Amino acid sequence: MSRIAYVDGRYLPHRRAGVSVEDRGYQFADGVYEVIAVLGGRLVDEDLHLERLNRSLDELRIRWPMSRAALRLVMREMIRRNRIRAFGSLYLQVTRGVSPRNHAFPTSAEPVLVMTARTLPPFDLEAAKRGISVISAPDERWRRPDIKTVSLIPNVLAKQRAVESGAFESWLLDVDGMVTEGTASNAWIVTEGGDLVTHAADRSILAGITRTSLLRLAREHGVRLVERPFSLVEAKRAREAFLTSTTSWVKAVVRIDDATIGNGAAGPLTRRLLDWYTAYVAGDGETSR
Ligand code: PDD
Repeated sequence: MSRIAYVDGRYLPHRRAGVSVEDRGYQFADGVYEVIAVLGGRLVDEDLHLERLNRSLDELRIRWPMSRAALRLVMREMIRRNRIRAFGSLYLQVTRGVSPRNHAFPTSAEPVLVMTARTLPPFDLEAAKRGISVISAPDERWRRPDIKTVSLIPNVLAKQRAVESGAFESWLLDVDGMVTEGTASNAWIVTEGGDLVTHAADRSILAGITRTSLLRLAREHGVRLVERPFSLVEAKRAREAFLTSTTSWVKAVVRIDDATIGNGAAGPLTRRLLDWYTAYVAGDGETSR
């Protein structure tokens, strides 16, 4: 089945889809994006993603490429045309547009919307519980990682470092040795005292949508939780650790650098959170048809 991409008003065969060489996303990383999970044909946490997109666009002073209602229709059409049924993801990107290269905002460019969609293998719950390794790496990003821009080269380099070390993710450390987040995921620990801890959603991390939904679920289930920075040292001593993202859901972290976390598999709270999240995404969202 051939994949279809959406580029600035047109549905095109994925392999032949392209943008202008003077798209400002390409030349200046002057754009923002969202990745939304599709489960059973439904967009998971669609409203929260569109709200975050709105904030990112606002921060960069890029206009919406179309109304929110129209965008929702295009997203559904992409799911339909790409026949995403069980599990998949939708990528959408908005750049400031096409204009002769010049750093300042162009006066007349129109924002360019691109969407791609892909089917993913069914989410592997057992693998998420077996867990993954992370390494630590310096957080070398610009000082506004709370805006979901396509300017991701520090994330790319740190992720590559993880891959070359046989790890799944890098946890990024600020100058004080505190873990901010992963290159494409949020970082969590369960302390020796049993508190669930994740960095507050201030300007130094991306406020993950999975993070937001999991915090709500944890609160509803009466889990003691604290939003505060934690150090690499504290993480290595933690009872449990895990990461969250749109496509990773909740994945146990069983190794940080050379330290084994807990007994080397998902801890009890991580398992419960994964179960609650799985149940939540299975029932959440609007229908795409
Ligand atoms: N990444 N932190 C960073 C830096 C991220 O890039 C992401 C998401 C997250 C988790 O956010 P969410 O729960 O909304 O997916 C945290 C996406 C999936 C990506 O770049 O592919």
